Amino acid sequence: MRLTNKVALITGAGNGIGQATAQKFAREGARLALADLNFEKVARVAEEIAAAGTDTMALRADVARLADMNVVVAHVLEAWGRVDVLVNNAGITRDATLKNMTEEHFDEVIAVNLKGVYNSTHAVLPAMLAQGGGVILNASSIVGLYGNFGQTNYAATKFGVIGMTKTWAKELGRKGIRANAVCPGFIGTDMVRGMPEKVIAEITSRVPEGRLGTPEEVANVYAFLASDEATYVNGAVIEVSGGVTL
Ligand code: NAI
Repeated sequence: MRLTNKVALITGAGNGIGQATAQKFAREGARLALADLNFEKVARVAEEIAAAGTDTMALRADVARLADMNVVVAHVLEAWGRVDVLVNNAGITRDATLKNMTEEHFDEVIAVNLKGVYNSTHAVLPAMLAQGGGVILNASSIVGLYGNFGQTNYAATKFGVIGMTKTWAKELGRKGIRANAVCPGFIGTDMVRGMPEKVIAEITSRVPEGRLGTPEEVANVYAFLASDEATYVNGAVIEVSGGVTL
């Protein structure tokens, strides 16, 4: 087990990649704080994991609100006294072409996908500095490398996440804190299943293996990056896309 005794906080853990990451981290021996806007969902995920013997807490939080994330971190510190790994996974889409994209939808995605990553990391950082180390893992996307039709807002956030990741790798490396970004391709979660069938078929035809990825395949990469096997991986931007960008 690669994450024994590590305390991990995962945002957006009620569904999809966040849920799979929580389950994987539990199998690797971590203690888990699972935060999500949807408390019902995340409580269910936490219950299942706890039933299998892992220390797990579920917390309702909106990553777009710094105050929420400060409360989450206070709870984790009260229970376990440290936070070793933060997975900034929570994210949303509000797709439209630029012509049709409303200001409200632009601002909403920025608040969750970009400011949310700042909020959660800002909340966790004092603990990581005090304990002399930690790992920050940020959910970017291949859209954060190449852009995508209909995703002005989402692309802006995912490019931005890579910028923050590299900045934090430089700022915090000397303090024993690593920051890395993961860029999933098209993974079979609700976020992608919500796309028109025609678009999904077109995407999978561009993947050399001819299929969408699974949440578990992304979770495996988070687990490696969170572990001490990755102590020299800092400021990296890692594609988990099945080669769809080739
Ligand atoms: P999902 O939609 O299946 O799950 C997202 C979770 O985040 C949900 O449980 C939701 O309640 C929660 N959430 C949403 N807004 C929140 C907020 N303001 N505060 C706290 N929690 C909130 O998403 P999925 O597909 O698992 O994606 C996870 C991350 O991976 C996202 O950042 C997404 O942008 C990124 N990603 C996903 C890809 C995919 O193909 N599914 C591809 C590339 C990146």
